[in-house]
Amino acid sequence: MSTVIPFYSRSSLHVDIYDRLHASQEDVAFYQRCARDVGHRVLELGVGTGRVAIPLATAGLDVTGVDGSEAMLSLAKQKARIIPKEVRARLHLRQGDIASLRVRGEFDLAFAAFRVFMSLLTPESQRRALQAVHRRLRPGGLAVGPPKCEIR
Ligand SMILES: C[S@@+](CC[C@H](N)C(=O)[O-])C[C@H]1O[C@@H](n2cnc3c(N)ncnc32)[C@H](O)[C@@H]1O
Repeated sequence: MSTVIPFYSRSSLHVDIYDRLHASQEDVAFYQRCARDVGHRVLELGVGTGRVAIPLATAGLDVTGVDGSEAMLSLAKQKARIIPKEVRARLHLRQGDIASLRVRGEFDLAFAAFRVFMSLLTPESQRRALQAVHRRLRPGGLAVGPPKCEIR
């Protein structure tokens, strides 16, 4: 099942203005530091418009980003078209529900930045998302939530 929360659907004004409302890069350095400690293969749950994923790929990390919203993902893909080819090759954008995560590969770091996890409204969906992350992380890999900083 692919989740499209109305708030992030194609007709949502929120999607159109998302990057203008939430331009902060304050949390990017945090995820970059986490990856430096554990490895470069990164899984981002709820990648959205690529606000975090694109800078991480630019910094040399290999980022797989999953999101349920086609509208948010298409903004990420638009932005990815204008980044250097070698950076684009490190960015893998997938549509899917993080509560029934289907991605291939093994990751060193997994994270959900900025209000993603709170969209999982039942303990069951939260548990399934965390179990899926656990399956995809290498032994000793790291799963982190958002750091304490303001994203506006
Ligand atoms: C507030 S945005 C955050 C986007 C990005 N992580 C950032 O920091 O800018 C929340 C994102 O989570 C996605 N999302 C929420 N629930 C989801 C689910 N169950 N499966 C996949 N994506 C989901 C939404 O589509 C949206 O793109």
